[in-house]
Amino acid sequence: MNATIFLEIGSGSGCVSAFAGKILDTSTLYLTTDINYRACNCTRRTGSQNNVTLDAIQTSFTQALHSRLKNSVDIICFNPPYVPTVSTEVSEAQDLRGIEGSWAGGSDGMQVTNIFLSVVHELLSFNGRFYLVALKENNIPEIQSRMKTLYQLESKIVLSRRAGREHLSIVRFKRALPGLS
Ligand SMILES: C[S@@+](CC[C@H](N)C(=O)[O-])C[C@H]1O[C@@H](n2cnc3c(N)ncnc32)[C@H](O)[C@@H]1O
Repeated sequence: MNATIFLEIGSGSGCVSAFAGKILDTSTLYLTTDINYRACNCTRRTGSQNNVTLDAIQTSFTQALHSRLKNSVDIICFNPPYVPTVSTEVSEAQDLRGIEGSWAGGSDGMQVTNIFLSVVHELLSFNGRFYLVALKENNIPEIQSRMKTLYQLESKIVLSRRAGREHLSIVRFKRALPGLS
């Protein structure tokens, strides 16, 4: 797929974006965000060690650049903090912007993910694709039906793997064509 803008939310080590940089066009703009400044530094370093320029921005989701990216991102990836935890752990983790933010997902593990799910449709370009990592406990069928009903984003599970005790899937979303269901 040709992509002008690639965006990873919660880039952490930067491995996912650096890999994307190896398989997509060299002319693609690679943007990443993370709440953790150490993660942003690590992302930049992983990019440069793999000869991929990753523009790592420390912000929550796309807060710092949302209006400038509206309807223009061709590929969005998010491997969110999806582990079910108590709600207070999420707010603390998000406020502290530390390592706990990489796993604490609150109720159903969806508290952080849901915030981004409510805005991702504003960012996607017409043919854009959004790849989300989700755990079985996140209730993937519910996510899929909600995204279709509320934002007309249809989806497909493109990969499922078991990693230890986690059953993980990658769900790919795209705009539903009007008139087709
Ligand atoms: C499960 S880790 C994924 C790391 C990396 N993308 C990977 O796949 O290995 C989740 C990442 O999301 C970041 N994160 C958590 N809340 C965030 C938010 N509100 N905005 C941006 N990044 C966030 C964490 O700091 C962490 O780096």
